[in-house]
Amino acid sequence: MRILVTGGAGYIGSHSVRLFLDKGHDVWVYDNLCFGHRLAVPADRLIVADLKDVHRLDHVLLENRIDAVVHFAAFTFVGESVQQPAKYWQNNLVNTVNLLDCMRRQGIGRFVFSSTAATFGTPAAMPITEETPQQPINPYGASKLAVEHVLDDYARAYDLGFAALRYFNASGAHPSGAIGEDHSPETHLIPLVIQAALGKRPHIEIFGDDYPTPDGTCVRDYIHVDDLAAAHLLALEKITPGAVFKYNLGIGRGYSVREVIQTVEEVTGKKVPVKIGARRAGDPPTLVASSEKIQQDLGWKPAYTDLKAIVETAWKWHQGHPRGYKS
Ligand code: UFG
Repeated sequence: MRILVTGGAGYIGSHSVRLFLDKGHDVWVYDNLCFGHRLAVPADRLIVADLKDVHRLDHVLLENRIDAVVHFAAFTFVGESVQQPAKYWQNNLVNTVNLLDCMRRQGIGRFVFSSTAATFGTPAAMPITEETPQQPINPYGASKLAVEHVLDDYARAYDLGFAALRYFNASGAHPSGAIGEDHSPETHLIPLVIQAALGKRPHIEIFGDDYPTPDGTCVRDYIHVDDLAAAHLLALEKITPGAVFKYNLGIGRGYSVREVIQTVEEVTGKKVPVKIGARRAGDPPTLVASSEKIQQDLGWKPAYTDLKAIVETAWKWHQGHPRGYKS
């Protein structure tokens, strides 16, 4: 397949690009490098351009005779989305609708969309299945859910075939250690705990230890980034015109913040200084996915089924790249 990957130089995008290339696909990365990294993808596959640039997008789709689009490019900071919703609706929704219309003009009917657990908000019952009501509690989650609704309409009216994949907590790195997680600013738990283990931060702050969970800290479903990448490929291979696939992606097991810290200590052999802080606004106590539907429909199975194996890959990346891609 000839695949265009928007946001392909980002964290999940770059791991997917690598897998698609390994499997022999013809892959083009479309990224404005505002958060993506030039070094995360092969130089001869990278097109540095903005999603806002519809003419460029049209040209790239046509020139490379693209068959399918995998769309990662988006803003993802929950807190910022509350402060600056316009930025999120513009990039995450408007630019996505423009992309879909470019695809329509070029007759491209296969689309995989990066959705998120944040579309569910704070569900009462765990695990979260595809039947769980989607009630986002911030503009980030709402903008992603809005795209899912657009996709439903485009599938019905224009025969677009799509998969919306709701990621839980993407984590880990390629086992080679060549590519990995490098956000600026970094807000995610596992890289921050590893930085504290490396002495690059004085401590890790636990955002609240009075949640209704077994040890009082929040529980999340950490899924390896390569397992996410594999799900995209399976979906791409199954999508037919008008097909609608929506799947939750996690390993179906939750780990608390304290368990993450313990696991990092175990893997690195280093003590992590901890401080207990206040709750972070908008954090649900527990988010665990049921991924039975994608297992049954597409035969997806996570290769990484426990946190230690995931953290080992993240640790390898951080050891080799103490300053991320700048190392
Ligand atoms: N946490 C800390 N201290 C930190 C950082 C995080 O205690 O310094 C806690 C958070 O409060 C949370 C857990 O660690 O309970 C995981 O936090 P992350 O920021 O790593 O991940 P989130 O679960 O908040 O966010 C992820 C994705 C978002 C997505 C969200 C869906 O990164 O893009 O899941 O709920 F919106």
